[in-house]
Amino acid sequence: MSQLTLAEKVNLTSGTGWQSENCVGNTGSVPRLGFWGFCLQDSPLGPRMADLVTAFPPGIAAGSTFNKGLIHERGRAMAKQFRDKGVDVMLGPVVGPVGVKALAGRNWEGFGADAYLQGTAGGLTVRGIQEMGVMANAKHFIGNEQETFRMPATSGISKAVSSNIDDRSLHEVYGWPFMDLIHEGVVSFMCSYNEINNTAGCQNSYLLNSILKTEYGFPGFVMSDWGATKSGVDSVIAGLDMNMPGTNMIPQEFNGMSYFGPNLTASVLNGTVPEERLDDMAIRIMAGYYFVGRDEARKETGGPNFNSFTVDTYGYAYPNAQQQFELVNKHVNARNAYTERVALDVAIESSALVKNTGGLPVSLSNITKIGVIGVGARPPNDGPVLSDLLSSDTISGAFPFGGGSGVVNPSNFISPLEAINSRAAQKIVALDYYVGEDTDDAFERVVKNSDVNFIFGIDWSAEGADRTGFQMSHNVDEQIVQAAELNSNNVVVITATGQVDVERWIDHPNITAVLYNVPQGAYGGEAIARILFGEYNPSGRLPFTVAKDVKDYVPIVTDSMGGRPQDNFDWGLYYDYRLFDQKGIEPRFEFGAGLSYSKFELSNLVVDKVIDLSEQLPAPPTLGPAVGIPSTNETAADLVYPEGFTRVDAFVYPWLDSADEAQPGAPFSYPEGYKTEQPATNPQAGGGVGGNPALWDVAYHIKADVTNHGPLNGAYVVQLYLGIPQTASNTTPLRQLRGFDKVALDVGQSATVNFDLLRRDLSIWDVDTQTWVVPRGQYDVYIGSSSRNLELHSSFIISS
Ligand code: BGC
Repeated sequence: MSQLTLAEKVNLTSGTGWQSENCVGNTGSVPRLGFWGFCLQDSPLGPRMADLVTAFPPGIAAGSTFNKGLIHERGRAMAKQFRDKGVDVMLGPVVGPVGVKALAGRNWEGFGADAYLQGTAGGLTVRGIQEMGVMANAKHFIGNEQETFRMPATSGISKAVSSNIDDRSLHEVYGWPFMDLIHEGVVSFMCSYNEINNTAGCQNSYLLNSILKTEYGFPGFVMSDWGATKSGVDSVIAGLDMNMPGTNMIPQEFNGMSYFGPNLTASVLNGTVPEERLDDMAIRIMAGYYFVGRDEARKETGGPNFNSFTVDTYGYAYPNAQQQFELVNKHVNARNAYTERVALDVAIESSALVKNTGGLPVSLSNITKIGVIGVGARPPNDGPVLSDLLSSDTISGAFPFGGGSGVVNPSNFISPLEAINSRAAQKIVALDYYVGEDTDDAFERVVKNSDVNFIFGIDWSAEGADRTGFQMSHNVDEQIVQAAELNSNNVVVITATGQVDVERWIDHPNITAVLYNVPQGAYGGEAIARILFGEYNPSGRLPFTVAKDVKDYVPIVTDSMGGRPQDNFDWGLYYDYRLFDQKGIEPRFEFGAGLSYSKFELSNLVVDKVIDLSEQLPAPPTLGPAVGIPSTNETAADLVYPEGFTRVDAFVYPWLDSADEAQPGAPFSYPEGYKTEQPATNPQAGGGVGGNPALWDVAYHIKADVTNHGPLNGAYVVQLYLGIPQTASNTTPLRQLRGFDKVALDVGQSATVNFDLLRRDLSIWDVDTQTWVVPRGQYDVYIGSSSRNLELHSSFIISS
């Protein structure tokens, strides 16, 4: 760092502008040292806007597998493709939204509606990504629980929606998964579009400086979501380290105007931004780079070998400026047997069987004719390459993922119809299909005369657009109801980005099985076929609660409230199953539910204390001295554009047009309480990467046995829920997920499943003392097959 000039440091922090170079985000370079800038690229399920990549199952499918080893492998397999394409920062995983609102457009990008599941799965994903020499990105920090009103410019409002979150929920729900990612070593964060308690996410000093960097001990860098930067100096002193994509997206993304770049240079030169703060930004960015071994890994490709803005081999190296026409897409095949195997395994293991009165599995040797029904069975009209922000009506068939930035261009996509048809043909079983949305004669012809109907329901959502209702699209509920009148054996297969309403037909005796899938990536159809025909014994679990009455879900705020929409998170700690438990509401399908073709049994719950837990956390480690590097002692004259330099149009450079630009203006008005000295001590909850290191101590060891009683080999998810004692001052959800594991067992086999309960798992956030405490009293331990099927129970007491 001490070798770098001011301009070079500014370059590390500043995006070069929207569509300035190959990737969705690009930072400036240090040519003098042979360092080319970062390529930052979506998505959380594979390299977006590139060819010859895999459509991995989205986060929600990974969460639904409840398979920790596989979730980790998915991270590795995705990162292999980012690495092959020359990407430095993969923009994922998503652990915000947590998924508290059933209709929210982006829930499918994260791992499921539970903070513990999000944190565990997100942490394993980070581990997998960064082991491969690619920087991961924890997004979106924080409270991005709905899409409606996320951006003032597109919603006719003056301010983005404010997620108004109380302190305890902030810690126990929304911040929780991000802590896991930090503890796993995630090197970058993305702050969100929404406001939090009426301060913008990317200039929220309390959240970025106090919570994220101090209390959680996050040593890496914070980048803005694309266009979420609202200011220069205010954002920088509030903790923003990198501006993305560099140019201001609002009002116009292509004009080269930037809050960082030359404005950051000027602010440092005129003393408004302390030089130490710029050093801190640059150090945080480069620390992440070296921490994951990016310096070595990036040598393999020598920079990104694809271009996000054209599929052609030749194009502009600077797409916005339309300058430098050259070879921009090298068409590097990032797929291999490993990546495809992982994508298929995640898809297969994510399907949750939620009803089965004998409809599944179907044996092809016992039937003569299959009917396939519903738009959701067929391949989409224009291939699975879904452009951004489509509405659900434009989905024309089965889909690999939701819409928006969290997508890739799939190299292959297998629809359910194709996968089922090939199996039927091989076994000389007839198949007829009706994949329109009517219930006409053609529909009846298929439905009436088959031994079994597979009916495919879909519901889709996207970034930027929450769903508006719970009914599946393309009239499929009507088709299901009609089919149940005409045939006694109908199997419904749902693929939805979230919860859908199944009440019209779920109890009908002629609906003999229901498979509930979240989007499963490239191999969704293949995964479904394997389960329908018993080639795989289903082992997925629902990553959210499906209600009987849609009024029981936390709603989306749709009232703009005079231009400053307020989203009061009044449900506090009670979301998804925690809410249903609290209100005593019987769900249709509970969080964690999923059946098997075999009978599994849980037994022998054992609880062992590992350490005594004090109520209060031990004192945090003391703070090391602040790192200081000498000032560059440059003057404004040193920062003017070098003579003879040729600029790319609308590209963000660190230089000034003239030295006058760095003249101090009117005194800057710093926020109350602003100071530049490092505090003397860590907060009690802090002191380590991921908070006070004692939070991660193993406090109890829990184990239980699981046996497969057959008739098929298969895998089973064992879930641990913990009831934390209620105290006079703090009530806590009845039960919360605090462990899960999946075990594969042959018929007759047993295994012991082990869980570690950490101090954090037993803690609540005490608002008065601003720290985590371990309440005294009785802790209930439940081991079960879902959040409501809790076969084993034990308890322990922590006394004062
Ligand atoms: C999304 C981010 C994404 C970014 C870059 C934003 O609109 O919210 O998740 O990484 O665009 O494409």
